[in-house]
Amino acid sequence: MSQKIRGVKGTRDVLPIDTYVKDDDPWVRVGHYDLVEQSARDLFPLYGYREARTPILERTELFVRGIGEVTDIVGKEMYTFDDHGDSLTLRPENTASLVRAYVEHNVNQQEPETKWWYLGPMFRRERQQRGRYRQFTQIGVEAFGSPGPRIDAEQIELLDRWLRRLGLAFEMHLNTLGDAACRPKYRQALQSYLRSRSQELCEDCQGRIETNPIRVLDCKNPKCQEIAAGAPRMEEFLCDACKAHFAGVQEALQRLGVRFVIDPKLVRGLDYYTRTTYEAIATSGLGAQSTLAGGGRYDGLVRDLGGPDVPGIGFAAGVERMALLLAQQGKERATQPLVFIAPLGEAEAARADQLAQELRAAGLSAEVSFRKANPGNQLKRADALGARFALVLGDQELKAGRAKLKELRTGAQHEVSLQGIAGEVARLLGTPR
Ligand code: HAM
Repeated sequence: MSQKIRGVKGTRDVLPIDTYVKDDDPWVRVGHYDLVEQSARDLFPLYGYREARTPILERTELFVRGIGEVTDIVGKEMYTFDDHGDSLTLRPENTASLVRAYVEHNVNQQEPETKWWYLGPMFRRERQQRGRYRQFTQIGVEAFGSPGPRIDAEQIELLDRWLRRLGLAFEMHLNTLGDAACRPKYRQALQSYLRSRSQELCEDCQGRIETNPIRVLDCKNPKCQEIAAGAPRMEEFLCDACKAHFAGVQEALQRLGVRFVIDPKLVRGLDYYTRTTYEAIATSGLGAQSTLAGGGRYDGLVRDLGGPDVPGIGFAAGVERMALLLAQQGKERATQPLVFIAPLGEAEAARADQLAQELRAAGLSAEVSFRKANPGNQLKRADALGARFALVLGDQELKAGRAKLKELRTGAQHEVSLQGIAGEVARLLGTPR
């Protein structure tokens, strides 16, 4: 036998069966993902978001300029390769890509306000852990063109509603990072405080003092956390405009009935943020990787990537983390067939294929058996597939043009005419067609 080829570290297969998933992750099936994705597809358009799809491959420069050279993502986590002289990268996130598309297609000249949502794989070479992978899936939204605080609150309310609809338990954290007018002063004050305590910080944070001091605030090291607790707070440095914006976001959230906690440590790992930042953090079940979704405002990014001075705000959610929680709760989107048809002979098989075709044409799902087996085993198979009805098709049924449709859960038998089978099934479901 040839040697088996294993999947790449940090990636995972998601299959419709119970399957072993590496590194103690619980079983997650396609149905869990599907529930997350379908709920986004249903909900986001109600807020005016339309789907945008951009390539997985982008020029490396986009992320270096967009996310920031000193971030962990750009510094050590990108999958970058040379493509005959061009440096390309597998996208580690999608905000920079959507901004590129927005700028490249002059979208602001066609519409003053734009709302896009997206779904797709992202790639970061991170240390693998439960809820943290090297290929993962994000669902996100970006809104361009609205500078005021009401859009921030609307978007946070959307995230809140989505996670609640799925039944996930979380807390919404909120912070502000100021803007180009006030953050530099804060940065300076923070730097001088951190320099005075530099010997006590972890090695990474000692480096961050000069490159990205704000990131020291969310370091997980207990000693760094203790030092961060005594650091100057952004709040004390906010300019009037940023203060008013932050107050506006909070008022609007209160009006919409969204609960949140102010979290000064919420600084985010990407450099493009200005003013509002927010995260939905799972209250249990995920361990260290408990942030379900994160986002914020990025008022300078469109301009920094060569576009007009248009503000933006967005969030992205990690589908794997949401699916893990749903798997723990036993919730998933059902993908079972509605009718299982088991023909007993050759002539019956041909009729079964036609019946399945008629059902599917009417939008009803059907599965035909391709195996030769006795009726008892066929019914067992229907049960294993989770079918609602089973129809065993023998010589008699074929001649009479009538058959018994067995409801597997209750054992009830419904006599139906094979002619017009779709109408018969629809009638049983209470949805005439
Ligand atoms: P982010 O915080 O880097 O933000 O990622 C958002 C979410 O993606 C995280 O909260 C997490 O659920 C999920 N995620 C991130 N990395 C991994 C990983 N290695 N494995 C599994 N899940 C992961 C962004 O990406 C920004 N683009 C969000 C944004 C949109 N800001 C403005 N607009």
